[in-house]
Amino acid sequence: LFARQATFMLGCAKIEQLPEPDLPEIAFAGRSNVGKSSLINALVGMKGLARASNEPGRTREVNFFDLDGKLRLVDLPGYGWAKASKGEVKRFQNLGRDYLRGRVTLKRVYLLIDARHGLKAVDTEALDALDLAAVSYQIVLTKADKLKKGEGERMREATLKAVSKRPAAFPEVALTSSEDGDGIPELRAAIMTATGV
Ligand code: GTP
Ligand code: MG
Repeated sequence: LFARQATFMLGCAKIEQLPEPDLPEIAFAGRSNVGKSSLINALVGMKGLARASNEPGRTREVNFFDLDGKLRLVDLPGYGWAKASKGEVKRFQNLGRDYLRGRVTLKRVYLLIDARHGLKAVDTEALDALDLAAVSYQIVLTKADKLKKGEGERMREATLKAVSKRPAAFPEVALTSSEDGDGIPELRAAIMTATGV
């Protein structure tokens, strides 16, 4: 079992509110609606732990989930949606960026990409920022249930090739579905290896 007990710890609307960096953290980043909150729920096996919604911009704070007092999963606001230039949206997107830049206990970022669409320009910008900050990340292709098996594997290979020269990229791309659970056990195992938990 991944965690006996997963609980919502805290949601931060301001960078000053971040909890003490006293446990290893794994963060989930990516475009709005790509499935970050849903992936956290699938990993811990609790449907309603992180709030997911079809409306982009659902997650507006940096949300911390505690796993057995040993590890934290961090759900970040999404980037790259149409209203992103507006004040409120910009504020919570900047918050996610600030968290990613300066967190000493951050072990790895999972950068989520919709398996149907692949890497977009905004994702490339996010990868550039992570490489520059030397924050280790692994790409997760989400919503694998929406495409045929062969297509998923092709996208996985193309994505791996596209990031292969990036210094902070983990040399494997995950393919998951929070809907039917494909790839979730493998991702749990990867998180446990990355954090030593
Ligand atoms: P923001 O908080 O707005 O940044 O979005 P998010 O990345 O947290 O996405 P969220 O988990 O809220 O999911 C967005 C929508 O995609 C919801 O309607 C989910 O039900 C759906 N979704 C998420 N993961 C999957 C998946 O693996 N398969 C399918 N079919 N739908 C998914
Ligand atoms: Mg969310």
